[in-house]
Amino acid sequence: MIKKNTVEIWLAHLGENCSSTLNFRGFLSKDELIRLENYRIPVLAERFLFFRGLLRVILSDYLSVAPQEIVFMNDSNGKPRIQEPLKFNVSHTENFFCAAVSTDFELGIDIENIDRKIELAPLVKRFFSEKEFRSWDSFPEKEKATAFFRCWTRKEAYLKTSGVGIAGLGDIEGSFEILDSKPIVDIKHPMNTEEFIFHEFGIFPKILGTCSINLKNSIKAPKVKIREWRFR
Ligand SMILES: CC(C)(COP(=O)(O)OP(=O)(O)OC[C@H]1O[C@@H](n2cnc3c(N)ncnc32)[C@H](O)[C@@H]1OP(=O)(O)O)[C@@H](O)C(=O)NCCC(=O)NCCS
Repeated sequence: MIKKNTVEIWLAHLGENCSSTLNFRGFLSKDELIRLENYRIPVLAERFLFFRGLLRVILSDYLSVAPQEIVFMNDSNGKPRIQEPLKFNVSHTENFFCAAVSTDFELGIDIENIDRKIELAPLVKRFFSEKEFRSWDSFPEKEKATAFFRCWTRKEAYLKTSGVGIAGLGDIEGSFEILDSKPIVDIKHPMNTEEFIFHEFGIFPKILGTCSINLKNSIKAPKVKIREWRFR
């Protein structure tokens, strides 16, 4: 089981040479196998198998059960959960996967590709406040993508912590600044005064991620441990 007062963040990349992913099929539930069969695009099916199978393998180790024995349930917000005391949250983008796991803290996690070729200004205008737009726009051109995804992943991770999801995006304001490795408590949420920590991490040069940790009921900040999954 995971140590007390600890958050473990697992990172993985589905590259070539991942034939062991095929074994993951036997770990999936009936519903997951149906979801797998419904993917029409092979690369998306392969990613789903990888993401879900790997999640089961990682969680099963903490719970000391077989990967296929894990039962996922969605709470009233649609956030996936498993048996107490373990708490987890997952994010994936392209071939990249991450999962945050803890027994003590409610968690949300998000990763994004900062090299994605998209027009950012319309997104900031649409999803962020006027004040945030001015702050983002003041960054030098070459730093704008990182600043955008830094704030975006903080917000999404925060909203995934409670399970609200991006539906709550309009209710929060965040900062675009790098805040060293110190705990970051910079989201201003009018409805929520609980204390959060935002732990930023990178996977390969182009992927940026944030894990949001709700400190409620905790007297001290957690130890965050980054772990990388490697196929043998
Ligand atoms: C959940 C959500 C934030 C995912 O964002 P995304 O950038 O598309 O995807 P990510 O890769 O970061 O995260 C996906 C994972 O988040 C988890 N997730 C799903 N719903 C979630 C929720 N409500 N809260 C937290 N995590 C959630 C799942 O594990 C999912 O992985 P899976 O698709 O393999 O099962 C987004 O889809 C969303 O906001 N959904 C709406 C939630 C909502 O409005 N709920 C209220 C309904 S009552």
